Amino acid sequence: MQDILPAQKAIHRKIEESARAVLAAYGYQEVGLPVLEQTNLFKRLVGENTDIVEKEMYTFDDRNGDSLTLRPEGTAGCARFGEENGLLFNQVQRLWYIGPMFRYERPQKGRYRQFDQIGAECFGMAGPDIDAELLLMNARLWRDLGLMDDITLELNSIGMPGSRAAYKDKLVSYLEQYRDDLDEDSQRRLTTNPMRILDSKSEKTRAILVDAPCISDFLDDESRQHFESLCQMLDDNGLAYKVNPNIVRGLDYYNRTVFEWITDTLGAQGTVCGGGRYDGLVEQMGGRGSPGVGFAMGLDRLALMLAEKMESSGTADVYVVSQGAEARRAAMQVAEEVRTGVRGLRVMVHCGDGKFKAQLKKADASGARLALVLGEEEVANASIGVKMLRESGDQITCSRDKLVSYCRDYFHEGE
Ligand code: HAM
Repeated sequence: MQDILPAQKAIHRKIEESARAVLAAYGYQEVGLPVLEQTNLFKRLVGENTDIVEKEMYTFDDRNGDSLTLRPEGTAGCARFGEENGLLFNQVQRLWYIGPMFRYERPQKGRYRQFDQIGAECFGMAGPDIDAELLLMNARLWRDLGLMDDITLELNSIGMPGSRAAYKDKLVSYLEQYRDDLDEDSQRRLTTNPMRILDSKSEKTRAILVDAPCISDFLDDESRQHFESLCQMLDDNGLAYKVNPNIVRGLDYYNRTVFEWITDTLGAQGTVCGGGRYDGLVEQMGGRGSPGVGFAMGLDRLALMLAEKMESSGTADVYVVSQGAEARRAAMQVAEEVRTGVRGLRVMVHCGDGKFKAQLKKADASGARLALVLGEEEVANASIGVKMLRESGDQITCSRDKLVSYCRDYFHEGE
């Protein structure tokens, strides 16, 4: 599990703020979900034969002997939340959440055992319009973050359970002919979860898959129409996508639409966001049916992409330096006055002693644009030295009662 350093956290925060604004623009409401759920919830909904349930969950018994699991993903918990709070039956919901997920995977760049997701789940809407809306919303966020050029959308329809069963049979009988040439995992999946073989990274298996039956030839009519309408809506809005029949997703609850947003800038962990439709999930949980569709994006992966592009904005806008006991006390007060007077301004006070020169070096390193300088003289005549750190020019003197309006003008000029 990784520690997140301040510079990384600032990027996470930026993604979160941008996502918040975009989600609000589409009328989505944030919900708070627990990080622990009953183990059975994931077993039943994510699926017994998925990698997540088979080998990646952090599961333990609590003091009462109940089996609990640190959530590996948010959809199952969000559906449980919706059902228990009476938000689903005969209702329409657009919900979203942010927070840590946990999977016992082999860590590498972009893959961690604790990672943050922002996810959205929509309930009560069966048509392709909400699928299109989710994807347009994703695209808007990538654009706002300046990442659109590096991310592409891959899309597929995996139909309904009935049509998928027919496809699975055909796929298995095709792959059985090459059983011995398949990689070990895929051989095992032939009996447990054959569609996941389509996702195999093994080159030998991939070569065999080239001539495998294609799911799009097995779609039921309604699913085909659903998918065509979705594609039409994306075309209407100028959103580019690639139909990729090999996208099946690693969780069992999907039907019809499935999608992944992929980048080639992160090496092997190139999927920054994934999702799809799960019309049977609420019923499977024991609730009265409600269609659903959603996505989750990996903040850690997006942050890696953004880190390459983002300049650090430092830690302060104004840095206050002082020398002498009196000046040090005044510095603390001056900083408070400026924080009160100019909302949102980041004001850092130099704590401890040191020559002005050394303190100003720290001021420069903080990224501040202004240094406020207080010595005995300034204290005596109620003034402040103001030094511009990013422009040339001499230090000027400002009377203390004018300082707040000086800072306000300096930082908000041209707004
Ligand atoms: P998922 O594809 O398992 O889907 O995860 C979504 C995203 O979380 C991935 O695309 C990736 O960016 C990020 N992610 C997953 N595992 C890791 C990891 N070990 N380290 C870093 N990032 C990771 C779901 O979780 C579904 N619940 C999405 C969904 C919502 N489908 C419908 N609604």
